[in-house]
Amino acid sequence: MVRFANLNDQARLAVAQNIGHMTARDSHFKFAAEQIAKADAIVIAAGAGIGVDSGLPDFRGNDGFWNAYPALAKAQINFTDIANPRAFHQQPELAWGFYGHRLDLYRKTVPHAGFGILKKWADAKKGSWVFTSNVDGQFQKAGFAKEQIHECHGSIHYLQCVDDCVAGVWSAADFQPEVDEEQCLLLNSPPSCLCCGQIARPNVLMFGDWNWQHEREHEQRQREAQWFEKVIHNLWNVVIIETGAGTAIPSVRHFSEQTAKKYGASIIRINPREFDVPGTRHIGIPLGSLEALRGIDDALGTLRAEIDLDFTQNPQNEPL
Ligand SMILES: NC(=O)c1ccc[n+]([C@@H]2O[C@H](COP(=O)([O-])OP(=O)(O)OC[C@H]3O[C@@H](n4cnc5c(N)ncnc54)[C@H](O)[C@@H]3O)[C@@H](O)[C@H]2O)c1
Ligand SMILES: [Zn+2]
Repeated sequence: MVRFANLNDQARLAVAQNIGHMTARDSHFKFAAEQIAKADAIVIAAGAGIGVDSGLPDFRGNDGFWNAYPALAKAQINFTDIANPRAFHQQPELAWGFYGHRLDLYRKTVPHAGFGILKKWADAKKGSWVFTSNVDGQFQKAGFAKEQIHECHGSIHYLQCVDDCVAGVWSAADFQPEVDEEQCLLLNSPPSCLCCGQIARPNVLMFGDWNWQHEREHEQRQREAQWFEKVIHNLWNVVIIETGAGTAIPSVRHFSEQTAKKYGASIIRINPREFDVPGTRHIGIPLGSLEALRGIDDALGTLRAEIDLDFTQNPQNEPL
């Protein structure tokens, strides 16, 4: 066995730093586990970063976006130019090259184990809700009921007309995109509007998007309001687990912070880079989703074991 006393100063420092690092990590996990253990209800708030551990790209800055779409980098087309209804009018093959590739990718993706951990926690509570800016349908794939999800920017798995037409929103299930990934171009015919025959586009909120059909999102928002009425009615103690939410388009962070204020809830913010939190009631965990969720889940296991142990030492089963 290597003894601490036998190490040179540099090695001692490394060990001490490592112990310090482990302690901070473990105390983050413990704090988060305690918040989750005592909550009646869980709100999950997720941005693109939650998908990174499933192998999906986030679009953090032009670098992140262009790494994922080199053809668009070559043409110096950024996220705001292509995630734009104008692109469907002016360059439909390119716009559908981008969205078709994503549709296909999200269909093929298997949500990582962190989704299962979140679902397990959510199922163990009196209530749970998911708010996400992701359009990829990964929460539904992971088994969350569609009635407990608010996709604030819509879903790529649904379509709508490019024009302001009465067709509404319909499933994209019948459309199988074939994409030349190198050129980011759709090779087959784009889907068309069920009503007027114009080109159809994903039912996703884009930049400068005046024709976004928000009826699906509106229904989800109404269900969310009803869910929060239940929170108030039952005086549920809420914890917010936010992960993968960036600062450039802060819809998810804004939702978490407003919800925390309104319901006196703590935020557990999981993000390897943008983990600052607005106050000491909250905690920022500077890790990726999967690693942090696993760590918190282990800490929850330890917490439960400690509580069980206390019960065995309390033969009268009096409240501890
Ligand atoms: N999968 C999707 O549906 C998808 C993907 C990309 C972008 N978008 C859309 O683009 C917009 C971008 O906003 P955004 O804030 O969600 O994404 P973003 O790309 O701007 O930011 C991603 C965030 O995730 C963090 N992150 C990176 N790796 C992580 C990991 N392993 N675990 C946890 N966090 C990690 C980053 O630090 C960053 O803060 C949104 O409107 C969203 O709808 C959606
Ligand atoms: Zn139409």
